[in-house]
Amino acid sequence: MNQLITQLEEHKTEIASFVVNNKEELESFRIKYLGTKGLLKSIMGEMKNVPVEQKKDAGQLLNEFKVFVETFYAELSSKIEDASGSSENKIDISLPGQPLPLGSRHPISIVHNKIVSIFQRLGFSVAEGPEIEDDWHNFTALNLPENHPARDMQDTFYISQNPDWLLRTHTSSVQIREMEKKQLPLRIICPGRVYRNETISARAHCFFNQVEGLYIAENVSFADLKQTLYFFVKEMFGEDVKVRFRPSYFPFTEPSAEMDISCLICSGKGCSVCKRTGWVEILGCGMVHPSVLDNCGIDSTKYTGFAFGMGIERITMLTYQVKDLRLFSENDVRFLKQFTQA
Ligand code: DAH
Repeated sequence: MNQLITQLEEHKTEIASFVVNNKEELESFRIKYLGTKGLLKSIMGEMKNVPVEQKKDAGQLLNEFKVFVETFYAELSSKIEDASGSSENKIDISLPGQPLPLGSRHPISIVHNKIVSIFQRLGFSVAEGPEIEDDWHNFTALNLPENHPARDMQDTFYISQNPDWLLRTHTSSVQIREMEKKQLPLRIICPGRVYRNETISARAHCFFNQVEGLYIAENVSFADLKQTLYFFVKEMFGEDVKVRFRPSYFPFTEPSAEMDISCLICSGKGCSVCKRTGWVEILGCGMVHPSVLDNCGIDSTKYTGFAFGMGIERITMLTYQVKDLRLFSENDVRFLKQFTQA
């Protein structure tokens, strides 16, 4: 037993003085002490010659020795690893970084956000309503009773489970929902998706986005409407854009108008986008019809208001000179990644 102790101590001193300078020398150490034919294995092999009554103590000593050799080997390896700077723990800072693909905002969202922020600066707040609407909010309350011929202007998707339900054809339905709350004065814009049963083409789609505007208070006039929209156009398209109003008809406004801007593509000279007229229509508007106010329980002898509605796709097409509306919903990344503006 004592002999074993001295033997192990000697080995320990020898091992502790071992120095390795490279991987090869490290490997020689491993083979010499820990390999299948190494020192540890051969000492372990001698356990069979140890008398039974000493086996327990000898086993314990050998085990301690084994832990000593293995720990020493682990220390030697980590020294070599550090010195050689293996790929796991050495970073080459001159390497180019991994590209991190950045998404870009959808052009419709960019323009939507810009429209919203322009009107917010004028004191309008954002209101939203459901895309599945009932007949009252989408049509009847807006002065479009059943069988009114103007309902044909907007080919509608109805919902088969309930004849009263439909996919809203315009965001004017949100006007009604907000007016019904009767918190006046009311100054809101209502952005959102709308649906129409239209054949899909470069200029029309069965779903698109609108922004509705509404201002109800005492003494609101058509002049207020014009000033609001002039401000919008200048902020959206710049100082040089010209604006004109044409008389029009909408059942929910009286008088009604449509607003055109000078064509941004040809600066009013005439091109295919403006159909050689130099003007492009961007929205419908007017003074809220007294019957619409009455339908919502607002006193039309006291309050007046203006409303307008525009298609976000149309504004986006003009802003970025996109000629085909279908591109907005096809999700082609080559198209979408071109829009990097925040
Ligand atoms: N709702 C109309 C449409 O979808 C747009 C519109 C026109 C909205 C005139 C208005 C308005 O508020 O006053 O075509």
